[in-house]
Amino acid sequence: MTTTADVDPGTNPTAAGSGQNATATFARKERAAGPVDHGRAALLIGDTLAAIHEVVRRHQVTYAEYDALKSWLITVGETGEWPLFLDVFVEHVVEQVANADRKGAVGTIEGPYYIPGAPESASEADVPRRADEQGTPLLFQGTVTDLDGAALDGALVELWHADDAGYYSQFAPGIPEWNLRAQIRTGTDGHFLFRTIAPAPYQVPTDGAVGAMISAAGWHPWRPAHLHLKVTAPGRAPVTSQLYFTGGEYVDDDVARAVKPELILHPTAGPDGVEVTYDFRLDPA
Ligand code: DHB
Ligand code: FE
Repeated sequence: MTTTADVDPGTNPTAAGSGQNATATFARKERAAGPVDHGRAALLIGDTLAAIHEVVRRHQVTYAEYDALKSWLITVGETGEWPLFLDVFVEHVVEQVANADRKGAVGTIEGPYYIPGAPESASEADVPRRADEQGTPLLFQGTVTDLDGAALDGALVELWHADDAGYYSQFAPGIPEWNLRAQIRTGTDGHFLFRTIAPAPYQVPTDGAVGAMISAAGWHPWRPAHLHLKVTAPGRAPVTSQLYFTGGEYVDDDVARAVKPELILHPTAGPDGVEVTYDFRLDPA
């Protein structure tokens, strides 16, 4: 029998472990449900079902395939993998629709691993890292401005990312609570600076139902290395984003389809690791 003690905490998180943590995190943040708009519900539910019916007819889906789907859906729920599945395969289109009219910084998907309330600094942050944290040191800085380029005072820049093995604190076992999570409140110059390490590519856990679906389809389970950001400021539309690294593996083939050309960083060599600057221009609220 495998017990938690047998699992190498740094290198072997499970789909069920990540999934259940992601499900619990989502339950905490779920937006308050408003009154049901029955017309809208009938439209969305009806069209979704019609799309499924169309696939059944077009591909002559068999009872064996229908039962495989039922069994897969049941397992995704039992292991808590719905946030992983939806954020990888659906969120990118919701994000495009939601933010189509932005004039300032483009964003991309939030993903399942955001936690509010990371340790806060003013202007500069040494992002919490383990004493033996692996990975190339990364100095990441920029300025938060309005659309005209005027610096924004009191903007909050939240950063979270995977470690050098592709794992997130609070979702993979054995990582300190706020590891590689930090937030900066800007001063009048709108400037922020994070000292951290470069993350590794992220792999959707392969031992669960979502991994089984990906391998059944013959796809790969990888996202390119990325920094997650959320930037908010008084009177401005908040932006949720991710930044990628030029030339990085999977930048051109992200399983979550969340890469946009504007989000690819070009870091340069610094005295200690690599450095990069990226500014956020925020639309009015
Ligand atoms: C998933 C993980 C991520 O780190 C991310 O940025 C997006 C999606 C996921 O496993 O669903
Ligand atoms: Fe991520």
